[in-house]
Amino acid sequence: MSKQPVHQDRNFDDLAKRFQKNIYGGLKGEIRLAVLERDFREHFFYSPFGEKSPTKPLRVLDAGGGQGQFSLRFAQAGHKVIICDISSEMLKLAEQEVEKLGLQQQVQLIHCAIQDLPQYLDVDSCEFDVVLCHAVMEWVTNPQALLVSLNAYVKPDGFLSLTFYNLHSLIYKNLLRTNFKKIQQQDFGGARGSLTPINPLYPEQVFEWLNSLPLNRLATSGIRVFHDYIFNEEHREREPQNVIALELEFSRKQPYQLLGRYIHVLSQHIALE
Ligand SMILES: C[S@@+](CC[C@H](N)C(=O)[O-])C[C@H]1O[C@@H](n2cnc3c(N)ncnc32)[C@H](O)[C@@H]1O
Repeated sequence: MSKQPVHQDRNFDDLAKRFQKNIYGGLKGEIRLAVLERDFREHFFYSPFGEKSPTKPLRVLDAGGGQGQFSLRFAQAGHKVIICDISSEMLKLAEQEVEKLGLQQQVQLIHCAIQDLPQYLDVDSCEFDVVLCHAVMEWVTNPQALLVSLNAYVKPDGFLSLTFYNLHSLIYKNLLRTNFKKIQQQDFGGARGSLTPINPLYPEQVFEWLNSLPLNRLATSGIRVFHDYIFNEEHREREPQNVIALELEFSRKQPYQLLGRYIHVLSQHIALE
């Protein structure tokens, strides 16, 4: 049983529709999915994008998975996906998509906090080949404890794919917009009702937490390393294919990587003897 005040983690019931439209309804979502896909392709042969097929379907957990935009690709490739989320509205949208794609046999939706998942599954079912936790850490009150829970759900040799909202990017954007007061007052958490997270994170801090766990970091990429900084918002959409290609190119290069709006880290669990 979780001892964290998970009830204070941000439930997306009131944001579900807006999130669907603003995040996945355009180029922002395409960039996010392109970077994730590239990172998985490089390191994970059995991904929906990989060459090989595993002998039996993989078990995938999408923790705080919302509408399941990325994890449903695993389901489409024949793997078994569990999406858990504290927001019933986000899960309703996931359910609609599952039905549309005919994936009812592949996908289970569980309305619960990530930290409480063991209460909903057998002990043996609580280990997964792949654990995805995308854009959730910045919405919880205790992100380090969340990371420890997530790591416990990854099988030996299994994979943890984490994305989180990058505080460097938020600071830089506020500098460019001359919002100096926000920076001086360290006022970075988003207002209630906004899609700016309550708890944006420094990547260095998350890397330190990851390093303290038995995980081998395989890939680290910035997501939207320049797209969000293009001054004229209309220009962002002018050459979408070039934007995606250049986002992929610069996502791994310094200093651009650490300016990504989100950071993706793909890690593999180290099997202890
Ligand atoms: C920004 S959305 C990301 C959704 C999805 N992972 C994605 O990348 O599209 C954050 C989600 O985390 C959920 N959430 C926040 N805290 C949670 C917790 N402790 N357990 C489960 N879900 C949580 C919210 O309800 C919301 O659906």
